[in-house]
Amino acid sequence: MTSFGRRHFLKKGSTVLLPALLPAGTLLASGGGREQQEKANTKPIKFFGDGEMFEPGDYINELAQAYDRTKFEKDRYGAGGVVAALEKRFAALTGKEQAIFMPSGTLANQLAISVLSGGNTKVFVQETSHMYRDEADAAQAVFSKRLMPLAANETFFTAQQLQDSIASLAKDEVFQTGIGAVSIENPVRRMDGRSVPIAEIQKIAAYCRSNNIKLHLDGARLFMAAAWTGVSVKEYASYFDTVYISLYKYLGASGGAILCGSKEVIEQMGHLVKVHGGSMYGNWTNAAMALHRLEGFESRLQNAIKASTEIFSALNKHAGIQISPLQNGTNIYSMALSKAIDGKKMHAQLNKEFNIKMPQPNENNQSLLTVNETILHQNPAYIIDAFKKSMG
Ligand SMILES: Cc1ncc(COP(=O)(O)O)c(C=O)c1O
Repeated sequence: MTSFGRRHFLKKGSTVLLPALLPAGTLLASGGGREQQEKANTKPIKFFGDGEMFEPGDYINELAQAYDRTKFEKDRYGAGGVVAALEKRFAALTGKEQAIFMPSGTLANQLAISVLSGGNTKVFVQETSHMYRDEADAAQAVFSKRLMPLAANETFFTAQQLQDSIASLAKDEVFQTGIGAVSIENPVRRMDGRSVPIAEIQKIAAYCRSNNIKLHLDGARLFMAAAWTGVSVKEYASYFDTVYISLYKYLGASGGAILCGSKEVIEQMGHLVKVHGGSMYGNWTNAAMALHRLEGFESRLQNAIKASTEIFSALNKHAGIQISPLQNGTNIYSMALSKAIDGKKMHAQLNKEFNIKMPQPNENNQSLLTVNETILHQNPAYIIDAFKKSMG
């Protein structure tokens, strides 16, 4: 452990770890129960978000552990050091020739469709996608691309819908500006993490390849899709020309993204990041964290799925609660409580007494529970017991 890590550990120890060092009974005598003691010893379980989102102290500790383990080196403007190591790792993971660290997923998406489209202007996207709804019209405003939304309020468009939409352009529009690219987001954030069926991706990819249309994957949460559907990250990536994956949604970094693709495409990116003002001098803190958290991540996710299956099936035996997967869902589940249960009280008690955080149930006593690796901070029996006690 580095001197900083040690100091931080000892400082933390005075508050968080102290209960573990006290003689048995001390906490009880001072008014704390078993639950409070367990709560004090553990990190929170979060039934929201896709993974660990570290607070500053924990972030620094985690990075110190990564440094102790690998003695990583810094980059300079994204070149060399741990950034190069991360890029190499992601190129291998996705089966692409090359990868590049990006300051944001938004820039990764925008530069990918811009380069893949060349001079052609139309880019087909899901109407529910981040690219269409949440990137501040960057495609139109900055990159001279016109986004063509398909499948309004749906998780995905089909190959047939794409084909029909492209075919109708010749009669619907006078000036033909060319098909630039197609982008698919998978899983889809605005559709509660529902995924695009692999059979549809295969059909879309086959259509695009045979018509020489380039295909981009907004795979911000691709690891969630892979873990829940059983289709590997590499297989998903194989159907696309470029793939973006987030480094902060579940890999612990405080920001950043990675874009993977052919050498020809990725080699153009460094210059484009610079001219759009995204080239940062040092990127190593984010790269080192993501590389560190990637170690064993897929097996931790499998353990999280196993734990959630055990917890949800035990809770579903209770008449007052029903937790169900969504259709084509990944890590987000619906939770419905009977009227007999005070959902707000349950929410507060889980948080206060058991350090289990979840979104507050709505007026219909329903909520969404997101499974991520924080579920592994306690064993399933503890979580089942906590829910049962909090349901009253
Ligand atoms: C599906 C999807 N794509 C892209 C992004 C953009 O990522 P960033 O915040 O790194 O720009 C997000 C972020 O919320 C997202 O959910």
